[in-house]
Amino acid sequence: MEQQGGLRGVGSHDRAVPAALAESFRQGWADSSRKLPPVPGALYAAERRAAVSERFPGERIIVPSGGLKARSNDFDYPFRPHSAFIHLTAEQATQAVPDSVLVFEPTGTGHAVTLFTRPRSRRDGGADPAAFYRDRRHGEFWVGRRRTLSETADAFRVEAAERDDLERALAGNVPTRVLRGEDALVDALVPPAPQAEAELATFLSELRLVKDAWEIEQLRAAVGSTVAGFHDVAGELRHATGLERGERWIEGTFNRRARLDGYGLGFETIAAAGAHACVLHWMRNDGPVRDGDLLLLDAGVEADSCYTGDVTRTLPVSGRFTDVQRRVYDLVFAAQSAGIAALRPGARFGDFHDAATSVIVEGLDSWGLRPGGDAVPADTALYGRYTVCGSGHMLGLDCHDCASARQQRYLDGVLEPGHVLTVEPGLYFQPDDLTIPEELRGIGVRIEDDFLITADGATCLSAGLPRDADEVEAWIASRR
Ligand code: GLY
Ligand code: MN
Ligand code: MN
Repeated sequence: MEQQGGLRGVGSHDRAVPAALAESFRQGWADSSRKLPPVPGALYAAERRAAVSERFPGERIIVPSGGLKARSNDFDYPFRPHSAFIHLTAEQATQAVPDSVLVFEPTGTGHAVTLFTRPRSRRDGGADPAAFYRDRRHGEFWVGRRRTLSETADAFRVEAAERDDLERALAGNVPTRVLRGEDALVDALVPPAPQAEAELATFLSELRLVKDAWEIEQLRAAVGSTVAGFHDVAGELRHATGLERGERWIEGTFNRRARLDGYGLGFETIAAAGAHACVLHWMRNDGPVRDGDLLLLDAGVEADSCYTGDVTRTLPVSGRFTDVQRRVYDLVFAAQSAGIAALRPGARFGDFHDAATSVIVEGLDSWGLRPGGDAVPADTALYGRYTVCGSGHMLGLDCHDCASARQQRYLDGVLEPGHVLTVEPGLYFQPDDLTIPEELRGIGVRIEDDFLITADGATCLSAGLPRDADEVEAWIASRR
């Protein structure tokens, strides 16, 4: 609850604070000010801010972090800043302050950058002297300590100011572009400029296409933790088979790793057993995990820096693929291998998808599986009935990273060193698909790995996991 009895963030069931207690709260606290080092990655963030400044000379640029979203009453969903804000600050998720706003103010030579934030509230007075112990959303005694303004300036190497001063700072007739939709106050203060704002969103998205050394380190760590989570799950298959909602056990096992190693998940864990594997983003995870079925686990640990992994393995729950499961698995494996072989700088982004798709089309054709019923498939796009989606995407701060990049830089673009992407072909034979033999119905297989494009090829960041069918079986046996 935002407002109760004139106090911010006080719940309906909170009791009034007697004057003597309020007075007591004002004093008797030790000095706990700190000298903070810059956040890890601060220097890289400064380079990204310099790129923004160079691209938009003479304009005010506003990038909000976004704020809290109420779950119900005075409980909020966990806060995670907008990826563009993270990219330009290198903020860590655990320290992030809701309602922060990064403002680039044009100067004669470039921009002065100020981070407007909610600093740690004072205990000895100020506008809201009760906030630190009464405010459930922002108070230090409720949600933990925030940085002071000078700590914020030291951490990010920018000017720091109170969010309460934002309205004054945004006054004046300065050409302005804002990342709209993240902060209601900012949106209200800045008149809409759809085209200019779309250009800003595109620029910020494309700025993330090529990862710098620090981002690659973060992605390696996130994918490394993701791999550890898959090892955890492989050791829990047996336990999951005894439970009514074994998928939840699988999900919980992975999610424990995500919270232990990182901030959490890059996306909700997909733990799909049996025919659920044919639902691409099965996140209900309320089904059993049965011997004889496949378990498709698609999951990613998001590091404290908010970079995420995105890996899929499809495991035989019993430890051994049946013949028909292995046939499907081997075809997806061959398709993924062909896609991986097509990764190199200078290749078109679409090449790995085309390579993987060719293998799948040839494989299905050799099984006599021809969508549309023709002797020879006239249109290989029809095989999309069994593959449903593309074979990969850019990966970074977002699982589906750089989503506002222009088609010519992404889907029709060319791979460059520093791109990080997934290769994840799949086959999904729906349980009610009458165009396929009965033995295939209800089988879904996806294999997904994360790759860094290098100067002369590609490096698999998730190579710590077995990939081919024999290795997968040996892995499960070893984790028993
Ligand atoms: N985990 C979602 C995806 O692979 O795209
Ligand atoms: Mn995935
Ligand atoms: Mn993916």
